[in-house]
Amino acid sequence: MEEQRGAVGVLRKERGSEGIRKCPRRRCSSASSGVHKISDIIGLVFRNKKATFALVCQTLKHLPIIKDVLDAATILNAKWKRQQDLIYIITYDILFGQAVSLVGDAEKFLMHRKDALQTALARLLVKKNVKTPQDLVDLYRIPEVSKPRYVRVNTLKMDVDSALLELGQQNMVEKDNMVPDLLVLPPSTDLHNHPLVTNGSVFMQGKASSMVAAALDPKPGWEVLDACSAPGNKTVHLAALMRGKGKIIACELNKERVIRLKETIKLSGASNIEVLHGDFLNCNPNDSSFSKVRAILLDPSCSGSGTASVRLDHLLPSNAAGHAAGVTDTERLNKLAAFQRKVLMHALSFPAVERVVYSTCSIHQIENEDVVKSVLPLAASYGFQLATPFPQWQRRGLPVFEGFQHLLRTDPVEDGEGFFIALFTKRDDKNHSEKQATCRNNSKSLARDSCTE
Ligand SMILES: C[S@@+](CC[C@H](N)C(=O)[O-])C[C@H]1O[C@@H](n2cnc3c(N)ncnc32)[C@H](O)[C@@H]1O
Repeated sequence: MEEQRGAVGVLRKERGSEGIRKCPRRRCSSASSGVHKISDIIGLVFRNKKATFALVCQTLKHLPIIKDVLDAATILNAKWKRQQDLIYIITYDILFGQAVSLVGDAEKFLMHRKDALQTALARLLVKKNVKTPQDLVDLYRIPEVSKPRYVRVNTLKMDVDSALLELGQQNMVEKDNMVPDLLVLPPSTDLHNHPLVTNGSVFMQGKASSMVAAALDPKPGWEVLDACSAPGNKTVHLAALMRGKGKIIACELNKERVIRLKETIKLSGASNIEVLHGDFLNCNPNDSSFSKVRAILLDPSCSGSGTASVRLDHLLPSNAAGHAAGVTDTERLNKLAAFQRKVLMHALSFPAVERVVYSTCSIHQIENEDVVKSVLPLAASYGFQLATPFPQWQRRGLPVFEGFQHLLRTDPVEDGEGFFIALFTKRDDKNHSEKQATCRNNSKSLARDSCTE
């Protein structure tokens, strides 16, 4: 009973916000974005946390079946339809879980209709031509995206060939054909406890995420600002690309995430990163401390919709087929987009900046193409234009404005994660990307230095 009420709270909270994550991986969020960490969600439940969470997960897993059963049984009147979270959870318990005690009205209502529910389930098994409820669960399951495991070699600590050799002792491993310093391993490779990971010689970082700092392509000796930096994967990538020379200012608003950022920096061995705990929007572009900043990496809080496949979002009622974006979703996306637009405009206003990369792990046009399109006049007034990161990459932006081909997208299904990258360069820097592309295409015979100088 207690678990059921707790689970209803969690399910409701979830339906109004983000997805449940399978694992406590990187979360791209800020307090203002309304995104919850799994620990926050579970923290909502006073007691029996584990049991409550298990009940939510199980209910979500069985949700398509529960809905079909309830539809077929036609037992819900308008009153109970308004309490569908509770109904889903109790129905799960009746059909697949523990014995239900007749404590509350909803339990009594459903237990008195247990036969109708079980008959509807039996009919569903026949209709779907399967034998057991587990067969049904398998039938309804959305296939998981199986994506290769990527690791980025932290060239501050180890060269790529040595990493290749060492990882190759136990795994199939090869260099990525596009992103420098990135290695590709088979999907199921578990490297969490590998010594090269734990000592910071390699970072477990996806391909799309690794494209961002590479697209910015800062030179050794530059001053670079990472505007929204925690947990710092891209910050330390910048440090590696700059070969530890020059300076990186890593700005982060969230106090707890500053701790993560510092841990990442420590692990990387980078010594040229200055952490700035504060709001990027309060960084005055005309302050002398930013007068030499030549490049800005802007990876602001976003909906995270591009990485939803590693969460359980597809199981949520709000993701059911045909479900239109709810008011809460739209409101949240609008708020995020307004914030993203504001920080992007701010980044473009730093006087010495020649290159700005804007990235999200979102698939939504409103956070991506629309944000970029909306700042184009301002960008042009500062002398910026869109450049083409990784021109050899096929998947470009959505065709919603002229110049969309400059934008880069990765697809959550095809590429394992949905990312978006836009690169702004000052006009006198306009040949940079093209030159980089030519260099990369010839990179097999060229040392990296000759491309970056
Ligand atoms: C998408 S995450 C960044 C991930 C990071 N680039 C990486 O690759 O590890 C966005 C970060 O921006 C931070 N943030 C949000 N609003 C901010 C602001 N106004 N100023 C600085 N940081 C902010 C969030 O707390 C969050 O840590």
